[in-house]
Amino acid sequence: HGTSKVNTKGHLEIGGVDTIELANDYGTPLYVYDVALIRQRARDFQTTFKNLGVKAQVAYASKAFSSVAMFQLIKEEGLSLDVVSGGELYTALVADFPVDRIHFHGNNKSVEELEMAVEKQIGCVVVDNFLELTLLQDICEKHGYTMPILLRVTPGINAHTHDYILTGQEDSKFGFDLQSGQAHEAMKIASNATHLDLLGIHCHIGSQIFETTGFKLAAGKLFDTLKLWNDKEGFEARVVNLGGGFGIRYTEEDNPLPASVYVEEIITDVQSFVKDHGLKMPEIWIEPGRSLVGDAGTTIYSVGSKKEIPNIRHYLAIDGGMTDNIRPALYQAKYEAVLANRVEDEADDKVSIAGKCCESGDMLIWDLPLPKANHEDYLAVFCTGAYGYAMANNYNRITKPAVVFVEDGEAQLVIRRETFEDLVRLDLPFQAKTKLTK
Ligand code: LLP
Repeated sequence: HGTSKVNTKGHLEIGGVDTIELANDYGTPLYVYDVALIRQRARDFQTTFKNLGVKAQVAYASKAFSSVAMFQLIKEEGLSLDVVSGGELYTALVADFPVDRIHFHGNNKSVEELEMAVEKQIGCVVVDNFLELTLLQDICEKHGYTMPILLRVTPGINAHTHDYILTGQEDSKFGFDLQSGQAHEAMKIASNATHLDLLGIHCHIGSQIFETTGFKLAAGKLFDTLKLWNDKEGFEARVVNLGGGFGIRYTEEDNPLPASVYVEEIITDVQSFVKDHGLKMPEIWIEPGRSLVGDAGTTIYSVGSKKEIPNIRHYLAIDGGMTDNIRPALYQAKYEAVLANRVEDEADDKVSIAGKCCESGDMLIWDLPLPKANHEDYLAVFCTGAYGYAMANNYNRITKPAVVFVEDGEAQLVIRRETFEDLVRLDLPFQAKTKLTK
């Protein structure tokens, strides 16, 4: 998919660049991003809203993959940006991202983070809780600035997905509870706050969702709430943000919808809620992360050692693992892979792909049909663009891989490979307090 294909050498090619050449030039493991595919995904969302004539903002949920180059690409495509920490906000500022298109999320934003948001006069803070309402109002007052805000609510929807990535159900750490009237209370406080401009409400029901049912149910709850707030307090929402969570195809088991279908189906329901309740159509904001970058990323590994246990299993180890892709270990996530240097060879072996960490759970793929491979081969694991590099870590003091963007036959390094020097950069020597006596 995307610009991926097999070239005349039988190698995997992405963005017109041979991935084996990339591996030689930049080393492995290596994340390769298909820039054209990211652009296409971004445009799919934008044009769908445009065609529907609905005012919208599509904000890239940058937690999926944040880097300066990625933010510059998102800026070029005219999307907005959702950040969830001072670090992501800082990265956006370094990328010179337009501040009025930055939305700040998080269930426990610190005073420093809120101050940063106010000082930089970012586009919107998605307020999550009562403490934040008070802190933000105080900071805004101090700076003489009025911050546009949304209130995040939990609509009590159980989207069908893995437990850890569920966020919209009632028993959740995120947002104001709708059932108990907390959201209503928050709306009254926000409406009366001198330095907060309440634009509307937000919800996010979960991630890697394949159906529109959950989104529609959640939207229904939001508009019922807005109807109530309108009747009781005369509140008129200018923005409704329905979050992200649109699924992608990691393996053949996954059946996501095209972006246009997610959006069209949700908007059809939104329009009827608005009409039925006699409300004004607000701007609709969404926050896709995974569906913008997930399938645009491929990780290239070098194949290393093997362990073949007769009649039990063939293990094939690669030079990365849970340090660059923790999703299989954390969520039992499934992936597909090929030998990047021999894509079309017959799959006459069945191997389980092991990472190099000192941990049995460090397995990337179980029982993958593959040609018999050895240490001269390269493995390409697909769909690693979201929550791969973003969740990479230094367990076992393994260095983080490099990231390259490929487009139109050209590659550019956008995150350099971590070095051993980088690993000890923050370390300070131990100062012995007492001399050891023999
Ligand atoms: N908006 C909010 C408020 C979110 O919490 C999230 C994701 C998104 C948008 C973007 O969701 P997406 O479109 O990417 O599904 N580490 C997990 C995913 C955690 C998602 C957390 N929130 C994984 O690797 O699957």
